[in-house]
Amino acid sequence: MKTKILSTSKQDIGLAGEIIKNGGLVAFPTETVYGLGANALDDEAVKSIYRAKGRPSDNPLIVHIAKKEDINQLVETIPEKAQRLIDAFFPAPLTIILKKSALVGDTVSGGLDTVAFRMPKNEVARAVIEAAGVPVAAPSANTSGLPSPTKASHVISDMMGKIDAIVDGGDCEFGVESTVITLAEKTPVILRPGAITKEMIEGVIGETELAKAVLGEMEEGEKAASPGMKYKHYSPKAKIIVVDADREGYEKFVNSKKGAFALCFEEDNITVPKVTFGKENDDLSQAKLLFDKLRELDELGAQKVYARIPNKDGVGTAVFNRLIRAAAFNVIDLNKPFTIGLTGPTGAGKTYVCEELEKRGFKIIDSDIIAKKLTEKGSPLLTELKNAFGKDILENGELNRKLLAERAFKNKKNTAILNKIMHPVIIEECKKQSEIPCVLDAPQLFEANADKECYKIICVSAPLETRLSRIIGRDVISTEQAMQRINAQFSDDYYIENSDYVIYNNGQNINEQINDILEEIL
Ligand code: TXA
Ligand code: MG
Repeated sequence: MKTKILSTSKQDIGLAGEIIKNGGLVAFPTETVYGLGANALDDEAVKSIYRAKGRPSDNPLIVHIAKKEDINQLVETIPEKAQRLIDAFFPAPLTIILKKSALVGDTVSGGLDTVAFRMPKNEVARAVIEAAGVPVAAPSANTSGLPSPTKASHVISDMMGKIDAIVDGGDCEFGVESTVITLAEKTPVILRPGAITKEMIEGVIGETELAKAVLGEMEEGEKAASPGMKYKHYSPKAKIIVVDADREGYEKFVNSKKGAFALCFEEDNITVPKVTFGKENDDLSQAKLLFDKLRELDELGAQKVYARIPNKDGVGTAVFNRLIRAAAFNVIDLNKPFTIGLTGPTGAGKTYVCEELEKRGFKIIDSDIIAKKLTEKGSPLLTELKNAFGKDILENGELNRKLLAERAFKNKKNTAILNKIMHPVIIEECKKQSEIPCVLDAPQLFEANADKECYKIICVSAPLETRLSRIIGRDVISTEQAMQRINAQFSDDYYIENSDYVIYNNGQNINEQINDILEEIL
């Protein structure tokens, strides 16, 4: 198909409207991003949007209108709060979701019983919709998964040859997609943050929630309030890693990464190749530039990109929301004291992995050694342990570790008592010893809540039989005692689920696994 490039002249806009009315596809500018429009009431035309974008069919589209009156035909009723938002903001970068009318087909709504609609502020957008004379379904005009287009050139690169026409209306004003709010449920919920902020909305309709998925990753199996939230998004080819740090910490970290790119603010002092997206304290400038700069990184051939974390307030919520999705939720938190947490059930073979990591230059903080030091003769902790586990665990003031282990690991209740005494002091000491890069070797990482102190967690896992024979050989105990210890810990699955990386210790290619993980983390 030959794609016509149209201007914003009256004649060209008339032509764009004509194409949409007749079932064709036209990309046009809005104040947020470029949209890919089709007649929302023509099921075949709507289907062709999904095809051109490669978009999953359960991800519904926003219906765009030119006049407020046009909303009535799309919905069952307009609840009072929705009316207030419409009166306060429309035309605006704000999308409202309500129960849909029978006029809205299943394709446009992705099979849901609701419809999302918005009246764009951009005059070219409204002129195109007017000229079409029908409501216009329009997702962002990018290939599904890529950054949304904020310039006609972005649309040309994604859609040339796949759609009928592109109206070139210059750069988009805001650069991130509209705020999406649902009023189809009891409490209003913002499903996607945008230029109309939570504060602005609350100023009009009172308490409004921010969907959990806005600032974080959705849990596996969690139902998406907005289907768009579950898909990989805005991702350039380059691997993006968001660095949570202040300016100084970020500069120091990124400048040591040879071969990487920085996606940073204009003020940042960066010595590696960089692309800037706005000013540190100007969220509107960041929003306007983010998608364009993500695309630019690909043009420059960047492979690995460390991005400066934006402030999460105001429009920054939207910038942060898009950036962590572009990074597939890969965030390094430099505010946390430990580099890597290493854990795993007893007997899985952490010691070997630790030795290997030490050879590769990591400082190892061994929580067991710290625990031993903290319970040497004369330590005040011994009194607490004696009170909890019996006088006879002390012999001439020395701790009988074997006896303590026997009692403490007998059941979960006793283990919890031991942990409550030991963990806080152990963590304190670990923090004192930590420097970057270091590894915290902690079998009880999760029990001690020390996982919160690590920015990445590796667990070592091995088959039960292997672990059993290792424990029995190492600690000279019976199978029964070994099983008791295993049962006092979390299950293997728990470790795997809660860690970022797993090393499978079955005697094969362990070093390869370690190298792959380190390559990813560093
Ligand atoms: O700024 C914008 O909104 C741009 C311009 C072109 O208007 N459009 C846009 O559309 O971003 P799109 O399709 O890329 O994103 C629409 C989002 C998706 O995350 C989708 O899942 C969600 O809105 N959505 C649409 N209808 C919905 C519904 N009925 N219920 C829940 N979420 C809905
Ligand atoms: Mg989109």
